[in-house]
Amino acid sequence: MVDEKTMTKKNNDQKTPLRIAILGSGKGSNCQCIIDAIENGMLNASVACVLSDIEDAFILERARKHGIPAEYVSGAPFKTKIEGEAEQNYIKALRKYNANIIALAGFMRIIKKGLLEAFPNRIVNIHPSLLPAFPGMESWKQALDHGVKITGCTVHFVDKGMDTGRIIVQRAVPVLRNDTAETLHARMQTEEHKAYPEALRIIAEQMES
Ligand code: GRF
Repeated sequence: MVDEKTMTKKNNDQKTPLRIAILGSGKGSNCQCIIDAIENGMLNASVACVLSDIEDAFILERARKHGIPAEYVSGAPFKTKIEGEAEQNYIKALRKYNANIIALAGFMRIIKKGLLEAFPNRIVNIHPSLLPAFPGMESWKQALDHGVKITGCTVHFVDKGMDTGRIIVQRAVPVLRNDTAETLHARMQTEEHKAYPEALRIIAEQMES
């Protein structure tokens, strides 16, 4: 007996050319919102695999709960980038799962030439600011330090620069008078969870047309 949800998921899997690999290092709330959007029929795609450079990252657990292949792939010997043997291992895993879009979701490493060339214009990232403002780390803190009144989040293609690739979706978040880094980041994440499925939907539609 196949229930309606499984049917919808199966049909989506057969129809869609979009096979998303999600790469993350942390709690994976953006990964969850992508999985949910697919399961709710809001995004015509499938999650091919979830990969993490942190062995016990919660993002891997989330994937396994949904029956999605989830693997730890080491980034060693580097701490902040994927290069050399680690890069080859990531490329191998992504090809094994036949991924055609790579969604970085809190993946704490810089993507270098080898991965960019293996998946040209196929790697996207979510960043917690309205790029090109506040690239790099802890952008919500940068926003507070500058006293900006509006910030937000951006889903963009990854290129060889730091958070410089072509923008796909942005959502604004007002900065409130009493905001701390934590409260601001929490409200940003609410918007991120709308922005990521929306951006992937745009990519899926482009690939289907
Ligand atoms: C998000 O805020 C994202 O913008 C940044 O890393 C965070 C990941 O959060 N790149 P989660 O692991 O998806 O909850």
